[in-house]
Amino acid sequence: MSGARAPERDDRTKVRAAVFLGAGAGFRVEDLLLDPPGPGEVRVRMLASGVCHSDLHVLDGDWERPAPVAMGHEGAGIVEALGSGMGTRPGHPAGMRPGDPAVGDLVVLAWTAPCGACAACVRGEGFLCADPRGAGHRLAPADVRLRRPDGTPVGAYSGIGTMATHQVVAAEAAIPVDPALPAEEAALLGCAVTTGVGAATRTAAIRPGETVVVIGLGGVGLSAVMGALLAGAARVVAVDRVPAKLELAREIGATDAVLAGEPMQTRAAILRLLPGGADHALEAIGLAVTAELALDVVRPGGTVTLVGMTPEGVRAGVDVYAFVERGTRLLGSNYGSAVPAEVFPELAGLAVAGRLPVGRLIEERIGLDALEPAFDALRRGEGARRVIVFDPPT
Ligand SMILES: NC(=O)c1ccc[n+]([C@@H]2O[C@H](COP(=O)([O-])OP(=O)(O)OC[C@H]3O[C@@H](n4cnc5c(N)ncnc54)[C@H](O)[C@@H]3O)[C@@H](O)[C@H]2O)c1
Ligand SMILES: [Zn+2]
Ligand SMILES: [Zn+2]
Repeated sequence: MSGARAPERDDRTKVRAAVFLGAGAGFRVEDLLLDPPGPGEVRVRMLASGVCHSDLHVLDGDWERPAPVAMGHEGAGIVEALGSGMGTRPGHPAGMRPGDPAVGDLVVLAWTAPCGACAACVRGEGFLCADPRGAGHRLAPADVRLRRPDGTPVGAYSGIGTMATHQVVAAEAAIPVDPALPAEEAALLGCAVTTGVGAATRTAAIRPGETVVVIGLGGVGLSAVMGALLAGAARVVAVDRVPAKLELAREIGATDAVLAGEPMQTRAAILRLLPGGADHALEAIGLAVTAELALDVVRPGGTVTLVGMTPEGVRAGVDVYAFVERGTRLLGSNYGSAVPAEVFPELAGLAVAGRLPVGRLIEERIGLDALEPAFDALRRGEGARRVIVFDPPT
């Protein structure tokens, strides 16, 4: 046996992922290889990933993003390997995380993993972090863990690229939650639920007895309806152009529903329900015309919260005279103004306790291969959330 060498063990993981190929070039489901986790990183076996309209914005070229990149930013999975230094990292920002994830934990992945050190993080506004891990979609050579078999680096969208069977992510992005929560529901906490519920409860800070209009009833808007109800809103008027969405919103607990048509008619229909205007309007589509509608349906002193995101560069008009005279308040809501490490476990607890019907958001469970029709349905506004389920039980 002298001179014979054991073949080098390949410690990479085989991965199947939906890879964005660039604006106009679409995506492809590819077989890739994943390096082991580096210091302060964990490997996650993904169980479920939601399909959010933000993925569609990227695919349709509304937002400029690098390619190739593993898509998806709304996922949950099981931690299966830890990088070095986990749990003992010196200088780890105190108070940022209740605990590092451990092997076997059910984790929800956060699309912003706050650095803990910048001015926003110090203010407790990690969702506005200036230097989150995963920024730039991790195409920096030292940070790339995913590669094509020919060695081409593949980024991970927002550092988590959840439309993949496995991912290596920063430990700060993997938040342990109650394992009693079904993985598909846990996935939705990663974006839609935290964004929508937080927009209502944190950004807008709706108070008991207030009246609320939610415009756009996708995963985000329906979550905003849930958030408004959780906050104790007396009336929640749900608005969408798809009748089935209105039904769903009513099932979740919206008190009223308006089928959107021409903006002036929609405005009149809302104001017939809430003469004088609503205390709050939340826009969860990402259109200038519905942002303007939101401004038109709040009472004097009312609050408009914009959650939906337009293609980059789009501006909406404000009737400045009326805006000032009526003392309207206008807020932007990023990630529901939530610090994921604090809010994911809290929302998971509410869902497990039956106080947040996250399961109602799930329209359909699909495989990676059915992603294209899922995006088409999202373009048409059909259905609430489609969730990719990995490794379905046989
Ligand atoms: N602020 C954040 O942090 C954040 C986070 C996640 C998603 N988003 C954004 O929120 C928006 C919503 O995301 P989603 O995944 O729920 O999208 P979605 O496509 O599932 O939902 C949009 C809904 O709006 C309805 N709609 C479309 N045009 C309409 C119109 N003119 N009038 C009335 N209803 C109309 C559709 O029928 C659909 O029900 C997107 O722009 C997304 O990028 C923002
Ligand atoms: Zn999203
Ligand atoms: Zn920061």
